[in-house]
Amino acid sequence: METKHCNELRAGNAGDTVSLRGWIDSVRDHGGILFIDLRDREGLTQVVFHPSREELARQFSSLKPESVIEITGEVLNRSEETINRNLDTGEVEVHAETLIVHNVSATPPFPMDETAEKVNEDLRLTHRYLDLRRPPNLKVLRLRHKAAQSVRNYFDQTGFLEVETPMLFKSTPEGAREFLVPSRLNPGNFYALPQSPQQFKQMLMVAGVERYYQIAKCFRDEDLRADRQPEFTQIDVEVSFIDREGMYGLMEGLMQRIWKDVLNIDIQTPFPRMTFHDAMNQYGVDKPDTRFGLHLKDFSETFKNSEFKVFSGTIANGGVVKAFNAKGLADITQGEMKALEETAQSLGAKGLAFIKSEAGEWKSPILKFFSDEEKAALKENLEVEEGDIVFFAATEWDRACAILGRVRLEAAQLLVQREKLTIPDDVYNFLWVIEFPLVLFDEEKGEFASAHHPFTSPVPEDADLLDSDPKAVRGQHYDMVLNGVELGGGSIRIHQTSLQEKVFKEVLKIPPEIVKSRFGYMLEAFRYGAPPHGGIAFGFDRLVGILAKKNSIRDVIAFPKTQKGQDLMADAPGEATDRQLRDLHIARMVKQDK
Ligand code: AMO
Ligand code: AMP
Repeated sequence: METKHCNELRAGNAGDTVSLRGWIDSVRDHGGILFIDLRDREGLTQVVFHPSREELARQFSSLKPESVIEITGEVLNRSEETINRNLDTGEVEVHAETLIVHNVSATPPFPMDETAEKVNEDLRLTHRYLDLRRPPNLKVLRLRHKAAQSVRNYFDQTGFLEVETPMLFKSTPEGAREFLVPSRLNPGNFYALPQSPQQFKQMLMVAGVERYYQIAKCFRDEDLRADRQPEFTQIDVEVSFIDREGMYGLMEGLMQRIWKDVLNIDIQTPFPRMTFHDAMNQYGVDKPDTRFGLHLKDFSETFKNSEFKVFSGTIANGGVVKAFNAKGLADITQGEMKALEETAQSLGAKGLAFIKSEAGEWKSPILKFFSDEEKAALKENLEVEEGDIVFFAATEWDRACAILGRVRLEAAQLLVQREKLTIPDDVYNFLWVIEFPLVLFDEEKGEFASAHHPFTSPVPEDADLLDSDPKAVRGQHYDMVLNGVELGGGSIRIHQTSLQEKVFKEVLKIPPEIVKSRFGYMLEAFRYGAPPHGGIAFGFDRLVGILAKKNSIRDVIAFPKTQKGQDLMADAPGEATDRQLRDLHIARMVKQDK
């Protein structure tokens, strides 16, 4: 007798005696004959309990769905009219002869069928083991496994070594807040959990590994969103003796392999490339979703002498006037308009000027200020037609881009709701965003900060500008973007002590003692034969999210955290005892609120 899984039996098995084990999915009572759908991770099989087997029927009567049982019985073909074409095993059923009850389940706190999707997420996360047991979620785990397997195969076949790097580390300059871990053995000292294996992978290049990858856990204490978790997974890569073109080719090959292995889809390479400037200028973000248009256009030339002083004044002060046509959204409601204005204001806009084309005329509080030429320029460049609405931003270039970039995305969602725009979820618009500036000026702090991280090498032609005009220096930084999601980012690195030291001290103005304590070992390492190298890291959760068509990465992580960074199932983070704190040389400054 063979043990089968619940998606294995077919008509050809009729007559076999088999054993099956799994969870009771559902029970139907047809005049004393019990029809059970038995479920395991592979699928469902119908099991029949006859009232003539009294002992079995009695044992079974105490069982509820989700109880775990094991049965043996004979496989019989179903009669023609009872075949279930929706099930792979729908041609057969197993007539139970013996029953072992492994665990009697209590009634689950939420339904285990599709209606579970509507149940409060916190309740599902509290009982994550039940939510995961639902077939669509097990399917996601399988898909994630397949993607990881595909990554490992690709890198194995292209000469990479998988190397593990420590979790207990020190501050890494990836830009987020870090999680600190007190060191018992070193009173008053702390490890930081790595925001990424960045420095280790560079040390591996100095160590001569040449091609490294790791599916690595990373930790960032950030404000959480649908696409951000405090601990997340990267496909982390570093390669010696490679330039940007080499990286693009290798990583396009990786994506090609993953899409083929997981979705059986052939994606086209090479991926298009867009400069950071063009991405901001046309889409208002550095991770443009190119599945739809609604491009931003510049009207500074049109409005530089305008009667409308908000516009002409901004241009006179070095700003720009940008606009885009949210095609077909003239029927926007007041509430929706208010939400868009709030979005714009949250990014520093003073207002969100608009013009609607409705009932054969243009309507706007500011229309009276516009000359016929100005209106004609708008109409022509934005192809304004009946039913359209144009939004404006007048301010500094980067702010105007950012404001309209966000309004564009929100307007697109409103158009999707109205079925006036489709954003297909089976189109994969991969894109390289390139030519980022090496550093960006942080207005608040009044200093330059790395656009990527401080190990990014400047574009060689721009290196001379490091002293005179750091803002104009481009970095050898690249991001891979897919459908508006930043899938990954990386760069060719600095591998010379002198240049790295210059970037730390002269460009980023990091005090020498900090450079020494945080990065001293890197500067030292680069003195002993550091090869030129570069790398990239992909957000694996985001990648799987797109493959699985899930909006939140929480849906593709086995045990995710909530927006507040909590694990509701295990109730983490939890308290520490006074004793534990004493051992760690830590004094309590806040009362525990649990
Ligand atoms: P970066 O900081 O751009 O680069 O991170 C790489 C990718 O990781 C993903 N990601 C996240 N995913 C989920 N939750 C988060 N909180 C989160 N933060 C980042 C994104 C992002 O593109 N060491 C460099 C890489 C390098 O230069 O090689 C790094 O970590 O998809
Ligand atoms: P005001 O003349 O300040 O009343 O502005 C007229 C319209 O222009 C209002 O709808 C404002 O929301 C909008 N507006 C004001 N400043 C800007 C700006 N910098 N960019 C875009 N729209 C603006």
